[in-house]
Amino acid sequence: MPVYHPPRIAASEITPREIYMSRRKFMGTAAAGLVVAGASSALAAPLAGSPSTFSTDETLTPKEAVTSYNNFYEFGTAKSDPAQNSGQFDPLPWSVKVDGLVGKPREFGMDELIKMPLEDRVYRLRCVEGWSMVIPWIGFPLAALLDQVEPLGSAKYVSFETIVRPEQMPGQTGFFQPLEWPYVEGLRLDEARHPLTILAVGLYGETLPNQNGAPIRLVVPWKYGFKSIKSIVKISLVEEQPQTTWKNSNAREYGFYSNVNPEVDHPRWSQATEQRIGEGGFFSVANRPTLKFNGYADEVASLYEGMDLKANF
Ligand code: MTE
Repeated sequence: MPVYHPPRIAASEITPREIYMSRRKFMGTAAAGLVVAGASSALAAPLAGSPSTFSTDETLTPKEAVTSYNNFYEFGTAKSDPAQNSGQFDPLPWSVKVDGLVGKPREFGMDELIKMPLEDRVYRLRCVEGWSMVIPWIGFPLAALLDQVEPLGSAKYVSFETIVRPEQMPGQTGFFQPLEWPYVEGLRLDEARHPLTILAVGLYGETLPNQNGAPIRLVVPWKYGFKSIKSIVKISLVEEQPQTTWKNSNAREYGFYSNVNPEVDHPRWSQATEQRIGEGGFFSVANRPTLKFNGYADEVASLYEGMDLKANF
């Protein structure tokens, strides 16, 4: 991945948590029963979930940064590309096919997915490049979706696929293709079923902006950000460990597990510290200690008991 340059965020752009939360309460009543299916696709619609005990109370990263400093290579490799180049992307109508080793394979329309039991989940997101954010997602546990298709006993992993749509995704066209498409990711079934693992359909009280993975993306907060695959069209239950885009691109640098771990460095840089975007202004440095499993060790360390995390990076 390219070298990290922090964005400039003015202090005035930071929404104090209390103001944001009270706004959210208002939208909770205003937006109850919202159906997104007929909404104008490129425009964000209000969306609300119920509070979750999994949320961190750390200072939120300004919405301006969350929606303008992105990795979404389908729209280009620069941090500003996804916000600048995703205006033509039309996320509706949309459906997600769930198939493979399941009793009841089927396709879920976005109108159904938006009616899943939505929760507000304020999660830390740690990018493998060394920056981090605190993002107020709106989503539902992936386990709730998996339950509906009834995974078979032979299913051991879950694989995920992003849409391929070069006519609306300029990063998928042209001479230089940085990655192979579709972008693919995978989790072990127990990781996928963990209550922290969500499918997000919104952030900051609105449906997902295109640059953040509209209309539906994965969020796995204890893993490096690249596991959180965007704009998902297919989820498959499988027996063997799935292919993953960054491991396919460079297996020496990126592994299947990709758990946030300050003790296991990237071959080209340390993972011991991080820079929280929006913190400390223009001269900020990556001096915040990175926590094992991104601070979610109490919840997820047991998933990896007895595993050598250096070998399984
Ligand atoms: N999903 C797809 N399809 N394509 C991508 O390039 N980038 C990943 C991940 N999901 C990526 C993706 C990386 S490297 C990160 S850090 C996160 O998305 C960033 O999510 P955000 O832009 O919403 O913060």
